[in-house]
Amino acid sequence: MTSSPTIKPFLDVLSGHRQPVPPVWMMRQAGRYLPEYRELRAKAGGFLDLCFTPEYAAEVTLQPIRRFNFDAAIIFSDILVIPYALGRSVRFEAGEGPRLDPLDTPEQVTSLATQADFSKLEPVYEALRRVRRELDPNIALIGFCGAPWTVATYMVAGQGTPDQAPARMMAYRHPQAFSKIIDVLVENSIQYLLGQLKAGADVLQIFDTWAGVLPPREFQRWSIEPAKRIVAGVRAQVPDAKIIGFPRGAGAMLPAYVEATAVNAVSIDWAAEPSLIRERVQNRVAVQGNLDPLALIAGGAALDRAVDDVLANYASGRLIFNLGHGIQPETPIAHVEQMIKRVRAYKG
Ligand code: CP3
Repeated sequence: MTSSPTIKPFLDVLSGHRQPVPPVWMMRQAGRYLPEYRELRAKAGGFLDLCFTPEYAAEVTLQPIRRFNFDAAIIFSDILVIPYALGRSVRFEAGEGPRLDPLDTPEQVTSLATQADFSKLEPVYEALRRVRRELDPNIALIGFCGAPWTVATYMVAGQGTPDQAPARMMAYRHPQAFSKIIDVLVENSIQYLLGQLKAGADVLQIFDTWAGVLPPREFQRWSIEPAKRIVAGVRAQVPDAKIIGFPRGAGAMLPAYVEATAVNAVSIDWAAEPSLIRERVQNRVAVQGNLDPLALIAGGAALDRAVDDVLANYASGRLIFNLGHGIQPETPIAHVEQMIKRVRAYKG
């Protein structure tokens, strides 16, 4: 495996070098469990205003780093900025999650723009440049996008749904129209990720939050294939780009995902089976995860035990300590401190 010498422990793990103490960060680490986030969120007005005001987005990105000294910062934005830049209507209703104009018939798909207006995403690049300037050079900066399947589930349904039935149904009934949505998302995600690298991101993560609702054949077509094209498209321009995939709920499909996509690491959810991960995933790539966010809410001995389980399962190999999904708003800050302290005390 090629590796350029680097001082960032996080990047070292992605380049193939296990660290004695695993680097640690949390998905959704900038967010509502932090009072300083809630304060700035209220000042910004809407959620998209927070994302698209570089000064605010940079500040919110840095808040959890100041508090917890994580090994990585993730740029504050959202996966739905791509549909927004494609000209779709995207709104975040307080307490209800995202609302888009549904895109669920082949007729509507014919009117879908193929090229995003990247000037709308310029504030994200500017926020990345600001963060990179202020961030300790030992801390990695993560850029991201949603995986085409997951972004498409919100575009088709116009909102989050429990099992993504509208997108699954459209993929069965109108595979051509659905694959046009996926193709548009693949191409624009490649451009968007390249823009983030140029603006200062060290690492990229592809969030496929809803991969786990797909049967194996569909998983191959709508999760693996698009991720593979995105990785190849980014690396065609930046050959050593470091990329983490997060096909949440992929279970026994993870080895196939890793092999086909050529990601440097996969983020795993808390239901992952340790021996499968060690023997068929971590032997090839770094693993990121996988504390149950509910154990982080619970705290106490249950949290200590859950942290120890992640370390016992994966820290003898290449591990980036993280949660199995995003931190929830009701999580006590003291529990995050307890988790980090225990991870950093690891001796193995
Ligand atoms: O991780 C980070 O700290 C960086 C920022 C980030 C956000 N969203 C901020 C956000 C990232 C990486 C995301 C990714 C994202 N967005 C995903 C994939 C990862 C995952 O968590 O599953 C998805 C599916 C979305 C779409 C989305 N955005 C939903 C469904 C919601 C509403 C649900 C919720 O948690 O409120 C959002 C809003 C959102 N994105 C918030 C944050 C901090 C909360 C909005 C608020 O402050 O009111």
